[in-house]
Amino acid sequence: MTLALEPAAQDLLFREAHTANTFTDEPVSEEQVQAIYDLVKYAPTAFNQSPLRIVLVRSAEARERLVPHMAEGNQPKTASAPLVAILAADNEFHEELPTLFPHAPQIKDIFFGERGNREQAAALNASLQAGYFIVGVRAAGLAAGPMTGFDPAGVQKEFLDDDHTPLMVVNIGKPGEDAWKARLPRLDYEQVVTTV
Ligand SMILES: Cc1cc2nc3c(=O)[nH]c(=O)nc-3n(C[C@H](O)[C@H](O)[C@H](O)COP(=O)(O)O)c2cc1C
Repeated sequence: MTLALEPAAQDLLFREAHTANTFTDEPVSEEQVQAIYDLVKYAPTAFNQSPLRIVLVRSAEARERLVPHMAEGNQPKTASAPLVAILAADNEFHEELPTLFPHAPQIKDIFFGERGNREQAAALNASLQAGYFIVGVRAAGLAAGPMTGFDPAGVQKEFLDDDHTPLMVVNIGKPGEDAWKARLPRLDYEQVVTTV
């Protein structure tokens, strides 16, 4: 076997996993989200900086505040998904570095003393963690609907602060009727990979 992962798990996480556009009304519990986080927290990040922060939009009141900031085509699914998560990059992640990278606490000032450097690193590393988060949602037997079609300034003002940049809004739940279209093509190995 070339891959170590069981074929059923390969299907669940990759081959049969789709971006969902409709959901059933089965709730997503706090325990499920915690179990997902307890897997995806092991994503690698530079200097273990772990800049991803997650806002779970659970209440009807919060949902009403979020939906108008979504692109029109994203509004119905964001309004109806059992759970919505705002994934953000913490641009002040360096404050946690003495805990997260304790053997070299000087990294905090050497590499991340400047806000611009932190923003760049946080965007890359939190996006990487966001990818893991989507896979984690799938590992819980749920479907994810990641979206960047929203007004970032509006979402930031409504749910975050100046130190947190929204990256993605993710609808989460069991897939509903006609949850996705046919699989779109992917690039072939030869189109993507070069060996030198
Ligand atoms: C970062 C990101 C942003 C996306 N933004 C949107 C969006 O705003 N609206 C939407 O309907 N789909 C969005 N998608 C879904 C993609 O269109 C979808 O993942 C892609 O077409 C592959 O579909 P599949 O997962 O069913 O194979 C987004 C996906 C990602 C990963």
